[in-house]
Amino acid sequence: MRTPTVEAPFSGEVRSPAEAREVGADYVNAVGKVIASHVRNEYTGAAIFDEPAIGLAPTPRDKWLACRIAMEEYGHHLRFQKLATELELPDALTGAPLSVFEYELTTWVEFVVLKAIVDLAEVVLMDELVECSYLPLRHLAQALMPEERFHVSFGAVRTKELARQPARRAEVQEAVNALVTFSLPFFGRSRSSNNDAFRRWGIKNRTNDQARAEFIERTRAFVVDDAGLEYPDVSASWDGR
Ligand SMILES: [Fe+2]
Ligand SMILES: [Fe+2]
Repeated sequence: MRTPTVEAPFSGEVRSPAEAREVGADYVNAVGKVIASHVRNEYTGAAIFDEPAIGLAPTPRDKWLACRIAMEEYGHHLRFQKLATELELPDALTGAPLSVFEYELTTWVEFVVLKAIVDLAEVVLMDELVECSYLPLRHLAQALMPEERFHVSFGAVRTKELARQPARRAEVQEAVNALVTFSLPFFGRSRSSNNDAFRRWGIKNRTNDQARAEFIERTRAFVVDDAGLEYPDVSASWDGR
């Protein structure tokens, strides 16, 4: 097999962990990094945002929805963990969590904005995996997408309701500013040898900055056009600081 490049990426389909190992260690390493980041992020997000949100939810219906979302996010962690186990990856939970998890969630308003913004980042990342060369990961992304879209639409509907209330508007705007900014590193650095490997192996097809620009475009449309709020001044490039 010729060595794939970013310009002429691997175009095959890899159906199983055994086939991934046949393609080679570089392929397993690249697809393993993408899977491990989801193993870690789904777990961390569920533990520090979704589970505490059950306690913050103001009504029984909101508590029920928060329980459902937390259950689904822990479920996503378990599904990605199954792929990681099948590929015999090292324990993903020992890696450093993403900077977005430094956000301190203290109110229900922050939680609904987080679902509208941060889960949209997750949707942008998973959208790409729907065409990934590793079919177990492609199929998992396809299976989880409806739940991620539900999280975003739950957050978007509640954010818009709150933004219409003059007394809550400033609080919503503040959460939007913080959460858009916190989500940008989610997409990785502008110059990234990991991203080069993901594109070489047909695991992703965009640069980190292209994915980040799409997130900015989609969240801007929501924040400005749908919620009537202001969008923070942000950049589509990120160098790790
Ligand atoms: Fe998730
Ligand atoms: Fe989600």
